[in-house]
Amino acid sequence: MFTFTINSIAPILTTSEHTVLEAMESAGLQAEYHCRDGHCGACRCELVNGEIEETGFKMAYTSANEILPCISKAKSNLVLSKVNYQIKAKSA
Ligand code: FES
Repeated sequence: MFTFTINSIAPILTTSEHTVLEAMESAGLQAEYHCRDGHCGACRCELVNGEIEETGFKMAYTSANEILPCISKAKSNLVLSKVNYQIKAKSA
């Protein structure tokens, strides 16, 4: 079980089975994405601390400290910044 700290305010728990994007969605965060397979770069964010494993082929440009959450799985607790997300509205 790993903990993600998102933009310094939203700690969430996840396992290594899910991508970082899936973990954020499970926690109720509506993170920005488009392709979900490493091509568009819409999900790009900054990895401040921690270790990830890329599970897909990265086509989108990222700088040295950026990751693509849609094709990344946690290998440790993660601290992420510059994540673009909204809180999902609860349905009745
Ligand atoms: S959603 Fe397109 S690269 Fe992640």
